[in-house]
Amino acid sequence: MKVYFDNAATTALDKEVLEAMMPYLENQYGNPSSIHSFGRETRAGIELARKTISDLLNVSPGEIFFTSGGTEANNTAIKSSISTLNLTHAITTVIEHHAVWHTLKECVRTDNIKLSEVPLKEDGHMDIDILEQLLKDNPRSFVSLMHANNEIGNLLPLGEVGELCKKYDAVFHSDTVQTMAHYRLDLQNVNIQFAACSAHKFHGPKGVGFLYISSDIKIDPLMLGGSQERNMRGGTENLYGIIGMAKAFEIAHRSMEEDTKHITAVKFHMAELLKAKIPNVEFNGDCMGDSLYTILSVSLPPTDNSEMLLFNLDIAGIAASGGSACSSGTDIGSHVLEGIKSDVNRQAIRFSFCKHNTIEEVEYCVNKLAEFVNVPQTLD
Ligand SMILES: Cc1ncc(COP(=O)(O)O)c(C=O)c1O
Repeated sequence: MKVYFDNAATTALDKEVLEAMMPYLENQYGNPSSIHSFGRETRAGIELARKTISDLLNVSPGEIFFTSGGTEANNTAIKSSISTLNLTHAITTVIEHHAVWHTLKECVRTDNIKLSEVPLKEDGHMDIDILEQLLKDNPRSFVSLMHANNEIGNLLPLGEVGELCKKYDAVFHSDTVQTMAHYRLDLQNVNIQFAACSAHKFHGPKGVGFLYISSDIKIDPLMLGGSQERNMRGGTENLYGIIGMAKAFEIAHRSMEEDTKHITAVKFHMAELLKAKIPNVEFNGDCMGDSLYTILSVSLPPTDNSEMLLFNLDIAGIAASGGSACSSGTDIGSHVLEGIKSDVNRQAIRFSFCKHNTIEEVEYCVNKLAEFVNVPQTLD
C-alpha cells in the first residue's frame, strides 16, 4: 500500500487543474505583454485567473500580485514594506517558516530594524497580551505572524491580531500559505495588509503563488524588470501556473465544506487510534484545539529505533515528515519544535492530510507505526 501523508509539504496536482493548464502548454503560448492576438488571448487568461482568486477572497483584482510561490510572496511583503515604508521595528515569533524568519533576520542586518519575538505558550500559541504590549511600546511596527504553522498546525486568530495591529497603527502581514484555499478567507473584512499564497499546497502546480497587497498600501517591487504585475513584479508571467492555480483555488472553494469535514475526520481518527495503540503518545502544539485540520504532529516516546521511524515508514510505503519538509533531508533539527520546547528525546512525525486520504490508510499507517514503536527496548 502507498500512503501519502505529507500534504503540508506539497499536494498532488488535480486532474481538472492539469486539463485547465493544457491549452496554455500546447497552443496558447503568446507572451501576455504582447499586443497582438496571441498575447491578448493569454493576457485575458491571466486576468480571468486574477478575478477568480480575488472574488473568492472578497478583494479587488488589483490587490492580487502573482509570484513564483510562497517564498517570494513573503520576501516581497517583508523586504519591500520595511524598506519602502521606512519601518524600524518588526514583530514575529520563532516558529515562522524560514521564508519569513530568514527574511526578517536579513532585514535586521541590512535595514537595521529591531526585531521582537512574541513568546509562545506551552501549547505553541503566541501570548497575545505580550503582542499588544509590544505594539503599544512600538507604534507603527511591521507584524509578521503566520496563519497556520506548517509543522504543528497551530492557528492564529487572524481577525483579533488584525484589530490589534489597526489599534496601534501596525502593518500586518500573514504567511497564509498553509491556509489559503483551506479556509474561506474574507480579506476585505480582516485588517490585513499582506497575505501570501502558494498553489502547490492545494493541488495546484508548483512554482506559482501570489501576494495579496491591500490597496491602502504602496510598496516598491522586490523584482525589478518589466512592467508586469502593474510594475510590482518584473518578468514574464508563469502563464500556465497562474491558470492552474486559479483552477485549483476554485475547486478547493467549490468543495471546501465537504473536504474539510472529511479531512478532519481522518485527522481525528488517526489521533484516537494512535492513543489506543501507542502508549505514551503525545501531540505537538494544540492539534486537538485551534489547529489546522490537515496537520497532526505526533510526538512519540523514545525507542531504540527512533531515528529509523521515518525510514521504516517509507519502506512500508508511507510518506510523512519529521518536522518541516523544507528542512528534511538535512540533519538540522526543527526550529519549530525547538521553539515550543518539545522534548528532544522524543521523535516528532508530522502527518498531513488531503481530500484523497482515507480511513483505511490511517489504519494501515497506525498499525505499522505501532509495530515500529512498540519494539521492546533492549537491556544493556
Ligand atoms: C508556511 C509556509 N510558508 C511558506 C512556504 C514556502 O512556499 P513555496 O514552497 O511556495 O515557496 C511554505 C512551504 O513549505 C510553508 O509551509
